[in-house]
Amino acid sequence: MIPFPLHGGNVHAVARSQGRSIQHVLDFSASINPLGLSPSVRRAIHRAISLTIHYPEIDAQSLRAQLAKFHRIPEECLIVGNGSAELISVIPRALGSRHGLVIGPTFMEFERALILAGARCTYVHATSMTRYAPPIDDVCALLHKQSGMREKPSRRGIHPIDTIFLCHPNSPTGQVISRASFHQLLDSVQQAGARLIVDEAFVDYCATRSVLRHVRKSETLLVLRSFTKFFAIPGLRLGYAAGPAKVVSQIRSMLPPWSVNALASAAAEAALCDTTYRRRSVQFMKQERTRFTQALRQIPGLRVHPSSANFLLVQLKAQDQVSLLTQELCTQGIVIRNCQNFAGVDVPTIRLAVRRPKENDRLVKAVKRELKKWS
Ligand SMILES: Cc1ncc(COP(=O)(O)O)c(C=O)c1O
Repeated sequence: MIPFPLHGGNVHAVARSQGRSIQHVLDFSASINPLGLSPSVRRAIHRAISLTIHYPEIDAQSLRAQLAKFHRIPEECLIVGNGSAELISVIPRALGSRHGLVIGPTFMEFERALILAGARCTYVHATSMTRYAPPIDDVCALLHKQSGMREKPSRRGIHPIDTIFLCHPNSPTGQVISRASFHQLLDSVQQAGARLIVDEAFVDYCATRSVLRHVRKSETLLVLRSFTKFFAIPGLRLGYAAGPAKVVSQIRSMLPPWSVNALASAAAEAALCDTTYRRRSVQFMKQERTRFTQALRQIPGLRVHPSSANFLLVQLKAQDQVSLLTQELCTQGIVIRNCQNFAGVDVPTIRLAVRRPKENDRLVKAVKRELKKWS
């Protein structure tokens, strides 16, 4: 049995353990848009309630059609899932992966999906020493080394790398790569005869960095997107993937019918049209992320890494501090993400979602108070 990796956002367990209602838990561990549901999405969910007496569309066809228009790619190049996590969990199996390379430290579900598919998982990690810059040169060198191996396993029975996962912007580091690095990576993956999976769950906060448009011309690239984070609907479960029609159809064959429910489809269709919410969210995040970063940087002993997403990676002095801080804040109903269980995180770090100003101020105060106690 392969256990679930730990994730942020487990407010239910925290509320239970602290005897609080969920409304009284302040969650900095899952990075959800602090502006909450957009009014148009809320209305769409209300309107769709009457549809729940029917099965939803078997493969979310209306939403796929709308996504196809939105991204200007053919419908057959799109697949919608019950959260992008559902798609991630079947991708290695659908591709017949035997050896995946994960650019870490990152979302742990890539490794889990590879292992579930019976594939090997190799990590190439960014490090705190290089400010978590994604190690694209190292990945390309590794792929280059194996070119010429073709399908054959090595003498030790290790298959060549056939699947590469890049999270962009990356969680928990918040890092993006340059256009040149992306093309360098895509070329290397193509030459190695492998596939590149780019998870853009957080890209709406830096939309110009998206690589989704490249799926129109590439047989190598598959891009994942999520409605969860940006549209604040983690409880509805909705994500999608865009890629070559053949790959998309292989993924579809692994999914159960009706995996996307009617409320989620309706919410996503409304969300896609909501340009006002999109603009407001991006503007808000730019400002508040800067303000929050500056406030945290005033606290002695914290190193706050720059981020292109709606969360910050914060380095502390010792792992004990991280564990104590996580526990102490939890008793106050504040949940933060201890990054210890991300493979490849080699220094004491926490991840903090950027929330509304008053909530961020409360966290800053609480962290200051706790760290002062131990100094
Ligand atoms: C990087 C990344 N990708 C994908 C997901 C899954 O998102 P969802 O299944 O809600 O679309 C998460 C969730 O935390 C994530 O952090």
